Amino acid sequence: MPAWYFSTRMQNTTNDNTFDQIIDRRGTYASKWHKYRDQDVLPFWVADMDFAAPDFVLDAVQERLTHPILGYTRTPDALTEAFLGWLERRHGWRVPAHWLVWLPGVVTGFNLAARAVAEPGGAIMIPTPIYYPFLATPENANQQGIRVPLVSDGERWVMDFDAMAAACTSNTRLLMLCNPQNPTGRSYSESELRALAEFCKQRELYVCSDEIHCSLLLDPKARHIPIASLDEDIAARSVTLFAATKTYNIPGLSCAVAVIPDAKLRNDFRAARAGLVPDVGPLNMAASTAAFGDTSSWLNQLLDYLRGNHALVQAVAGKRMTPVQATYLAWIDLTGLGLDAPATALEEYGIGLSEGEQFAGPGFVRFNFGCPRPLLEQGLERFQHALAELS
Ligand SMILES: Cc1ncc(COP(=O)(O)O)c(C=O)c1O
Repeated sequence: MPAWYFSTRMQNTTNDNTFDQIIDRRGTYASKWHKYRDQDVLPFWVADMDFAAPDFVLDAVQERLTHPILGYTRTPDALTEAFLGWLERRHGWRVPAHWLVWLPGVVTGFNLAARAVAEPGGAIMIPTPIYYPFLATPENANQQGIRVPLVSDGERWVMDFDAMAAACTSNTRLLMLCNPQNPTGRSYSESELRALAEFCKQRELYVCSDEIHCSLLLDPKARHIPIASLDEDIAARSVTLFAATKTYNIPGLSCAVAVIPDAKLRNDFRAARAGLVPDVGPLNMAASTAAFGDTSSWLNQLLDYLRGNHALVQAVAGKRMTPVQATYLAWIDLTGLGLDAPATALEEYGIGLSEGEQFAGPGFVRFNFGCPRPLLEQGLERFQHALAELS
């Protein structure tokens, strides 16, 4: 067992605020750190956090490892119950177990949704910018992609319903929703979601809603509402995707679930996975069972910490970013610098961000502030220096 493992666990059990501690991830092949392993570049790109997963999640994995056989595994009843309890407790949405389809990831889920509803010559509407794997789903499912930009009023990014109505064709089958939104950090309000539900119903669109960031609400006024929970009509047209992996920082133990109320859509979704999608591994399910069952104070502590980090990023980015309502990702407008690839330019200043172009937002960068504050402060110093020089 490497030294960082013990120091984290000890610290995790003896100190309530574990989030300040810098845990050395080098040597674990962590994507975030491996990218810049030979460079003095601090990574604030891919969406995982530099925090230890909580003890109750790590203990659940340890507990499963006390049995030495890690074979093919059916979904444990405890996982289903933990998820259904979580969905009702946190979002007031009570659903029966037979609506669930467990998956080895949310990206898998939205690609399966696209395949399940695809028809020859069909199209998929995608509000942009968006988490980049969405952008590939139309082509993956042999559908046409229709990208419609979100618009910002300086305070928040919103869907442009006029532009969406104008862009929607008679063969559009599906609308991709990301709520809370990666990369803009929006948590859509009930009225926006109701308007979107009407938009979909009127045009007979299915909606696939990726709600993986729904527990990471930083704005105390925001409330996460699963779009499918609004009414039965939109529920019947929906695939909603959840996972505990972002919130509890276990994205390397992928485990996700699709909630699909309509029986035919659910069957088509299941059929689309045939021969392609493996079942979820037993360690992943053990971790997610513990995470969905969480009623401790860990998440509130995490959210408070992230709020503090958000304030620091906002102080440096100023009006270049809208306040982040949810997620630990800031979407920062660097178009004023006139650079084709601002994230690449910023690497020269020792800071590794995600390039907006990837998300269909050229000129922007995405800054992941899910990390210990001493690291963030160092990164922000570099960022501020870079902005001063490049402006
Ligand atoms: C909006 C969104 N959906 C899905 C994922 C990835 O989910 P998974 O690893 O379960 O495929 C991410 C990861 O960053 C994300 O931000």
